[in-house]
Amino acid sequence: MLCLTLTESTIDEDLACVERNRKYIDLAELRVDFLKTEELGKAIDFPVHAKLPVILTYRRVCDGGKCALSEKQRLSTLFSLAQGKFSYVDIEDDVKKSELKFKSQEGEKKIDFEAQMKSRNIKIIHSFHDFEGVPADIFGKISKLASRGGIPKVAVTPNNMLDVITLFRIQEELKEIKDKIIIGMGPWGVCTRILYKKCGSMLSFCTEVPSAIGQLSPKEMKELYHADKVDEQTHVYGIIGNPVLHTSSPLIHNPGFAAIHYNAVYVPFMVDSVRAFFKLAEMIHIYGFSVTIPHKRNVQPYLGKITREVKQIGSCNTVVRIQNMWKGINTDYYGFLAPISELIANGKIKSALVIGAGGASRAIIWALRNHAVKVIVVNRTFEHAKSIADETMSTCDSLDHIGSYSGKVDLVVQTTSVGMVPDEKEDAAKGYLFSGSEIAYDLVYRPKETVFLRRAEKAGCKTIEGSRMLLEQGKLQFEAFTGYHYPYWVKPEL
Ligand code: ATR
Repeated sequence: MLCLTLTESTIDEDLACVERNRKYIDLAELRVDFLKTEELGKAIDFPVHAKLPVILTYRRVCDGGKCALSEKQRLSTLFSLAQGKFSYVDIEDDVKKSELKFKSQEGEKKIDFEAQMKSRNIKIIHSFHDFEGVPADIFGKISKLASRGGIPKVAVTPNNMLDVITLFRIQEELKEIKDKIIIGMGPWGVCTRILYKKCGSMLSFCTEVPSAIGQLSPKEMKELYHADKVDEQTHVYGIIGNPVLHTSSPLIHNPGFAAIHYNAVYVPFMVDSVRAFFKLAEMIHIYGFSVTIPHKRNVQPYLGKITREVKQIGSCNTVVRIQNMWKGINTDYYGFLAPISELIANGKIKSALVIGAGGASRAIIWALRNHAVKVIVVNRTFEHAKSIADETMSTCDSLDHIGSYSGKVDLVVQTTSVGMVPDEKEDAAKGYLFSGSEIAYDLVYRPKETVFLRRAEKAGCKTIEGSRMLLEQGKLQFEAFTGYHYPYWVKPEL
């Protein structure tokens, strides 16, 4: 189930939020601690108007909420609101049984909160929060919460791959607890939010406008990841990196899988230890994954097979499981070539100026050199340019001399991060004057049109945006993952 967390300050706004997201969600969590005081009373009728199951939550400041009332006041308000037709009410793990037995506001009679909820068929969620990490005894914690008779909920903060593995182990370790809620917060938790069913969680939370890193919108959860459709048979794919959440690759692969009716999902995984990730890959049966910075080299010791390009470039951006073995390929190489291969074949590109001497540059220079294109590498640090040039039989120069190559090459490729958001005003080829006859190719894809490309276009050059290469390399990954061509009718917005 996908649950929309509602944090507006009025009931009408919360209802409007439900309406906007109704097609994506199965239930909602009404966070009454976000409501203005004068709106609190209206919360009681919320489930009737919302027309879907609702969790009632009144979160304290110490658990990341806004309720600053005394515990006594908070619990008695929660009890009065729970007279409404809620399906669940959330109570924090440290609220003692005795605190849930109190005198009603009207009279002397003692109220037993838990018994009352039971008699009205409202399930109690016993929740535990950890905003710093994952407690060492998390399995014991969940069992203890479950022993209270309600639904155990743990919202914890994984900080590394081993923590993530712990969350994915919950299902195996605590199979007997059918209804439970597991949430991994923060950037490391994103994969657990999407693959919540693989962690054994009965639901995953989403927010219309994500405000914290790691939160996802209902639209993303439902339409992009189909998170609620993940089942035992779903094949898991993904991208590993650090950072990784900015990646556009899920926008390529998930719609592609859906278009060919392949029960598969492509998920971003924050990874510090590649070794630990390979363990997770075995655990949850990952069939293949993309690799980004800083792991394009780190994965190689774990691969049983690599292609010629990976060997040459020393960089692997795609790993697929083939007959119980991991195979590494490099789709950057062919993805880069795709938009220009015809021009190379027709002899229109015989020489190229490559700006930058990092990992991306190495793949590109090899691709050009293997097609007999002469390459000049220019770089801020001359030694880096020299090292790549020696390796690939190219020539090199310092970036300061870029102006001297103006108009003398058929292709100029920009491979550095200069000009990328948030520094989109930067020009990566300062001093280079476009003649109008060369092709300008930028690997930066955010923004779509960089200062470098804009300047080239103004001079009359043909330009190629970084999003083109991103898409081409992604399509090749898709082929490696699925064995099918990327469906031509799917046009990812990158
Ligand atoms: P990638 O794998 O994406 O290519 P990288 O290996 O970190 O990333 O390479 C970054 C490239 O961008 C390098 O060529 C780097 O130049 P140095 O070798 O001098 O470090 C270049 N680069 C990064 N920031 C730059 C800047 N502000 N000006 C010029 N070049 C820059």
